[in-house]
Formats: sequence, C-alpha cells, structure tokens
Amino acid sequence: MAKKGFIFDLDGVIVDTAGFHYLAWKSLANELGFEFTEEQNEQFKGVSRVRSLDILLEIGGINATQDQKDKWLVSKNEEYLSYIEKMTDADILPGVLKTLNYLKAKNIPMALGSASKNAQPILKRVGLFDMFDTIVDGNHVQKAKPDPEVFTIGADELGVSYSDAIVFEDSIAGIQAANSVDMVSIGIGDPGILHEADHNFRDFTEINSTFLDQLINA
Ligand code: BG6
Ligand code: MG
Repeated sequence: MAKKGFIFDLDGVIVDTAGFHYLAWKSLANELGFEFTEEQNEQFKGVSRVRSLDILLEIGGINATQDQKDKWLVSKNEEYLSYIEKMTDADILPGVLKTLNYLKAKNIPMALGSASKNAQPILKRVGLFDMFDTIVDGNHVQKAKPDPEVFTIGADELGVSYSDAIVFEDSIAGIQAANSVDMVSIGIGDPGILHEADHNFRDFTEINSTFLDQLINA
C-alpha cells in the first residue's frame, strides 16, 4: 500500500479567518477613502499579504510609495492580529477536528501548507500546533500559490511523493497549485468556484471516514 500524506491549508479550511482578513483590509480601504466588498474579498483568498495589498490598491485606484505600502502592511496585520488574539478552539471549523483526529489515530503524516505568516500563532491559539508533523507557511516559501512550493515542501518534509499527497484547500489558487504537481485536490467551499478540484465538499461535516479510507488506500 502506498504511503499517503495529507496537507491542509489553514485560512478557510481549518479556521474561519477569511472574515478577519476582510475586516482588516476593509478598514484600510475605508481609511484610504474607498469601499471594499465581501465579493471583492474572494480574490484575496490564498493570496499573500503583499500581493493582497497590491490588489486592494488597484481596486482603489491608488498609487503608493514602498514606504506607504510597508506602513499599510503593518497596520493591516496589527488589526488582523487583534482579531486573532480573541480566537479559541471554538473557531476551528465544523468537522475539522474529527477528520484530523481520525487521520492522527491512523498515523497518517499530516502537514500544514498555508500562505500565512501568522499560521503558527493561529494554530497555537486554537490548540492545533502539535497536530501536524510539519508546518509550512508564508515564512518558508518564496513563491505564492498558485505556485505549488508550499505543498511540495510539505510533501517533501512528510516523505511522500507528490501524487501521494492529498491537499485540502478553499482557494482557487490553492487548488491550481495542488493540481499543477498532480496532488489530489479537495475543494472546501463553493463547488461552483472550486470546480477545478478533484473532489468537492462544502465543509468537513460532509467528509466521512469511508471517503478518508478511500484516499488512504487509493
Ligand atoms: C492566506 C489567506 O491563507 O494567507 C490570505 O487566504 C492571506 O487571505 C494570506 O492574505 C497571508 O496571510 P497573512 O496572515 O500572512 O497576512
Ligand atoms: Mg485558505
């Protein structure tokens, strides 16, 4: 039987932090004099902090110096961290713990693969820091999703081949990243948006042990 490894994105897969990112970007947009909608926030999922600011400034039609951008990146992150500080294990998305515990009990290697530079403090806050065999986050990668670097490093560290890696993602960029190196991609969220995924679920409550066993034994 081939050895499989499971790789989990963080924001929008394990915890519902997309709303916090949205609130912090919206504050900055409002401060700069324009509106930023939840619909526009969809494009920010899976995208690095630096690239997200560039997209926000494009939306607002704002040209900025690098100094201004650096200042805004700090103030956005400070507001985001103020939301993170209040998180508890109650912020783990429904069904996630059941899946993680099931895989852990079977000694299946598990990695976190996230674009966020805040992944480690978030995992500590919600009590999942020790769940993963390796944590690959925005501090470890040079290239952002849809580049697969975050997932290939994760698979390498788990010691599994890319085609034996199974990736859970809520962003289009993340699904494309997994597909580009022939990993099994599982979309968590709207199947219409994530239609490029190999499998789709609205959330982890729809994922049962039979499906997980099929992935493990494929
Ligand atoms: C991704 C989120 O997981 O991390 C993006 O989907 C976010 O919205 C990115 O911009 C970077 O996160 P952070 O915490 O480093 O600003
Ligand atoms: Mg995500």
